[in-house]
Amino acid sequence: MSRDIVPERPPVYHLKEVARVCGIMGYVGPREAAPIIMDGLRRLEYRGYDSAGVAVANGSINVRKAEGKIVRLAELLDEEPLKGTVGIGHTRWATHGVPSDLNAHPHTDPTGEFVVVHNGIIENFQTLREELEAGGAVLTSQTDTEILAHLIAEEYEGDLATAVRNAVERAEGAYALVVMTKREPRKIVAVRKISPLVIGLGEGETYLASDIPALLHQTREFIIIEDDELVTLTEEGAVVETIGGEPVDRQAIHVAWDAEQAEKGGFEHFMLKEIHEQPTVITETLGGRLGEDGTTWLEDVEFDDEFAQGLETVWITACGTAYHAGLVGREVFQRVLRLPTMVEYAHEMRYADPMVKPGDLTIAISQSGETADTLAAARLAVERGSRMLALTNVVGSTLSRYADDVLYTRAGPEISVASTKAYLAMLIGQYLLALRLGVARGSIDRQRAADLALGLARLPAQVESILEDESSIANAARAIVDADDIYFIGRGLDYAVAMEGSLKLKEISYLHSEAMPAGELKHGTLALITEDVPVVVVVTQRSTYDKTISAVQEVKARGGKIIAVAYDSDTEIDKFADLVLRIPETDDLLAPVNAAVPLQLLAYHVAKLRDHDIDQPRNLAKSVTVE
Ligand code: M6R
Repeated sequence: MSRDIVPERPPVYHLKEVARVCGIMGYVGPREAAPIIMDGLRRLEYRGYDSAGVAVANGSINVRKAEGKIVRLAELLDEEPLKGTVGIGHTRWATHGVPSDLNAHPHTDPTGEFVVVHNGIIENFQTLREELEAGGAVLTSQTDTEILAHLIAEEYEGDLATAVRNAVERAEGAYALVVMTKREPRKIVAVRKISPLVIGLGEGETYLASDIPALLHQTREFIIIEDDELVTLTEEGAVVETIGGEPVDRQAIHVAWDAEQAEKGGFEHFMLKEIHEQPTVITETLGGRLGEDGTTWLEDVEFDDEFAQGLETVWITACGTAYHAGLVGREVFQRVLRLPTMVEYAHEMRYADPMVKPGDLTIAISQSGETADTLAAARLAVERGSRMLALTNVVGSTLSRYADDVLYTRAGPEISVASTKAYLAMLIGQYLLALRLGVARGSIDRQRAADLALGLARLPAQVESILEDESSIANAARAIVDADDIYFIGRGLDYAVAMEGSLKLKEISYLHSEAMPAGELKHGTLALITEDVPVVVVVTQRSTYDKTISAVQEVKARGGKIIAVAYDSDTEIDKFADLVLRIPETDDLLAPVNAAVPLQLLAYHVAKLRDHDIDQPRNLAKSVTVE
C-alpha cells in the first residue's frame, strides 16, 4: 500500500468544496414518500450515477436499492412497494467501492434502525473502519458511508441530532449526510460540510435535496444549508442550527429558474458549468491524498516502493484530450522520475509493436474508462508484462476493472462532449503519481516534493481567479472568431497545453486549428502565417521563454496576430502580444493546469459567438467505444 512510504501521516490538505456528484432526496409530509423521492432522483439523473436507492420509515426502516439506472429501482419498488410518508433517497456515483447493489445507498447500521445517505468523501474512512472492526462491527459494503450509519447508532442516546453531531465530529472530509431513525420516525436530520444541501418548503410538507432541480416542480421556496450546519426536518418545516447547536436564522429564497437552467446550475451550457467546477474538482482530486511534505496516499494504487525503484520505462497511452493530458504527464514524469516516458496515442500504440517489457508501468488515461482504443492498448501492454495503472473518472469502468492499479480522477460526471474538468483532474492525478513514484525512487528531494505539494494545494484558488476574469477571455474570442485558420504554439509543457487548446477550439467552434511546438513553426508552417492568421502562444516555461519569444517574433514579422497565455508577472510579453490572457504564477511544472483554463474559455466563447451547439458538437460522441 502507498501508505508504507511514510509511516506517520503528516497533515492532509483538506477539501474546500466537493464536485456535485451524488444526488440526495428527502421528504416528510402527508403524502407517500417513495414516489416523491423517485421523482426527485429522476430529475437529478442528468448528473450521472451508477446505482440508486430509497429508504422509508414506517414503524421500521425499509430499504430498496439497486445497481444501475433508476428504472431498475422502480421495478424493485413495483415488486415490493415501500409505504410511508417519511423517506430519503440517493443516486450514487461510486467513489469508495464499485457500483453494486451492496454499495448503493441508503446504508443502515447493523440493527437496521438508523439509515443514512451521503454525498462526499470521508477522508479518514480507513481509520474509522479499522476502529469499528476492532470493536467487533461487521461492515457489509466497501463504502465510507456505511461507517457513518455505525457511528450514529453508536452515538445515539435518545436524540438523533446529537448523535449525528457527535458522529460527524469523528469524521474528516466532506459530506452532505442525511439520516433517519425508527426511534424518531417523523423526522429527518441532515448535516452539511462542503457538499451541497438544500431544503424545499411546501404546505405542511418539507423536502430536502442535494440540488435545486430535484425539487423545482414541488416548490420554489428554498433554504440553502451552509457548511457546518445541521438541519432537522419535520412536516412543519426545517430548523437550522450550527453543528455546535447554535440557532441559525436562515431566510427562505424564492427560485425563479426553469428546470433546464437549474440543471446547468444557472450556466448557459454544461461545458461552461464544468469549466467553472474546476477549482472544486482539483480540490476533490487532491482531497485526502496529499501531505504537506509531498507524501501521497493513493487508494487503489498498490505497487510498492520496490516496484517504483526498479522501474525503467513509463508508458502513457490515451486518446484525444486524455492523450493531451498524457503529453503533460510525459514531461512531468521525465523531470520528476528521470525515466524515459513514452506517450502514445492508443490507436497507434496497439498496432506499433511497442517495446513494452515486464516491469514497465503503463498508465492508461481515459475519462470514461470505456474508450475502445485505450482499452486495447492497455491490454497489449498487460500482455507484454507491463503493470497497468488506469487513470480514469469512472469507478468500475472496464479500464478500471482490468487495471492492476487505479487512480480515480474524481471529477464527477462530465456531460459536455468537449472535456474540460476531466482533463484538469487527469493532470492532477499525474502530479500525484509523479510524487508517489518520485519519493519512492528518491529522484525528487523532500523539499522539492513539499514545494510541489504546496503549489498543487494553491491551484484551486488560482483557477478560481482565472475564472473571475472571464470577460477578457470573451474579448479575445471576438478577436479570432472570424479567422479561417488559427495556430497554437508552445514549448515543452506549453506545447502540451497548446495541443489541448487547439483541440477544444476545433471541437466546438469548427475553426481549423493546429498546434505545434513553437520551434517547429519555422520548418514549414510559417508559410501560412499572414495578417489574417491568429497565433495563440502559451509561454509559461522560464527555461525556454526566450526561444518561444523568437517564434513569436517570426509570427509578428509576417503580420500575424498574437494572443499569449502568460503569467501575471510577465511584463515582457506585452511588447509582443496583441492580447494577453493572464494566469497566476506557479512552479513551471504545474503551469499547465492554470494555462489550460483560458484556452477552454476561449474555445467556449468563440463557439458561443458562432452560435454552435456547444455541449453536443456535430459528429462527436462523449465516449468512443468503437475502434
Ligand atoms: O473517455 P476518454 O477520456 O477515453 O475519451 C477520449 C477522447 O475521446 C476524448 O478526450 C475526446 O477527445 C473529447 N471529446 C475531448 O474533448
